[in-house]
Amino acid sequence: MAPSPSTLRLLSLVEDIKIAIEKDDASNTATRPDLLANISKLRDAVEAPQDSLLRIYSQPLQNAALRVAVELGLLEIISCASSPTPEMGTSLAHLAGRSHGDSKLIARVMRVLTAMGICIESSSEHYISNPLNEVIVQPGYTAGVRFHFDVEIPAIIKLIECLSKHRFRSPAYASESAFDYTFSASFFDWMKENPMALRCFDLYMAGRRVGKASWLDYYPIHERLIKGTDLKNTVFMVDIGGGHGHDLKSLRDKYGHEGLPGRLILQDLAAEKPKDTTAIFESMHYNFFEPQPVRGARVYHLRAILHDWPTPICRTILSHVADAMTPNYSKLIIREFILPDTNVPLYTACTDIRMMLLHAGMERTESQWKELLYEVGLELGGFWIVERGGEGVIEAVKKS
Ligand SMILES: C[S@@+](CC[C@H](N)C(=O)[O-])C[C@H]1O[C@@H](n2cnc3c(N)ncnc32)[C@H](O)[C@@H]1O
Repeated sequence: MAPSPSTLRLLSLVEDIKIAIEKDDASNTATRPDLLANISKLRDAVEAPQDSLLRIYSQPLQNAALRVAVELGLLEIISCASSPTPEMGTSLAHLAGRSHGDSKLIARVMRVLTAMGICIESSSEHYISNPLNEVIVQPGYTAGVRFHFDVEIPAIIKLIECLSKHRFRSPAYASESAFDYTFSASFFDWMKENPMALRCFDLYMAGRRVGKASWLDYYPIHERLIKGTDLKNTVFMVDIGGGHGHDLKSLRDKYGHEGLPGRLILQDLAAEKPKDTTAIFESMHYNFFEPQPVRGARVYHLRAILHDWPTPICRTILSHVADAMTPNYSKLIIREFILPDTNVPLYTACTDIRMMLLHAGMERTESQWKELLYEVGLELGGFWIVERGGEGVIEAVKKS
């Protein structure tokens, strides 16, 4: 009997996946999104549309189960389990004994998590850690689970009310964000008053890229930034809105004091003096809505800053940087998502909505980046994209 059209379609999708795997290694960051897109198409073809919808309905409950597990420290306990027979896994009784949760609740939560692919249920009421769990238990990612659930979800719940108030316009001012509507304050003002949330956010910012491609590996720093640095000019890089300086630290770790010609300066609203007396970098309290005090540095670095703001505000932030730049010498490095014009990957498309609801911000396409730079008198030096729709490097210069 000839295969049915739906079987033929499935076989052709399987063939696409096979070709994608054979063409390139599945661990190649650049081609992985295409492979994953093909796998999703296959899943969509197998799953009945009604079941796809049921899966979508249940997504917030998956977040809820994960948040309960983090609160009770279950994933950490499973990760640290050192039983003489690791294949047995951690028992439900052990989880209940070590956490302050009731075993009936823990069993229900673990049922969701193992179905999501977080930990493996090795036998009835026994759990083993797996690579996904080992990522979640890293401090930055655990903080991310708390941050998304405790801070972002309340704003998601208010999104419809907030959009309705603004007649379903894409927000143009920070005060129009769902976050502002929910908490009666802008995101960063609210964070200042909520130290626990701020600590989670900072940990999450510092740790969220562990295991991802680093710009230090795919952007030619030596050739484009270090080479040609004026040794008389002592500031090499200013990291504007750099949080606790994790990017400057990894730059110093990679190049050392000898490999980097000059000072590194961290600027943020609450930048503190580093406790480390070997002074990996200097810290400076700075508000990026004011004129940039460090003039003529070789590099001004903005990572995950501009997506937090609507375009008119980005123009203000960038104008202060452009004013401080020495023409044909200083370089602006922006590290942000660079959206393709079509078929944006799901995670990036969702991050755009996240920026809208938290800050009235947005993720931008190549042409939107070019336009923004042009409007403040800067010229694009190039885009470095390692993963379609992922975070990349945008380099800009000021022409004389
Ligand atoms: C999304 S985080 C990015 C942090 C860091 N660049 C990174 O990629 O991990 C935004 C940062 O901007 C800082 N920030 C917000 N408003 C600021 C302002 N007006 N002036 C200076 N920094 C500001 C925050 O304190 C926070 O550290």
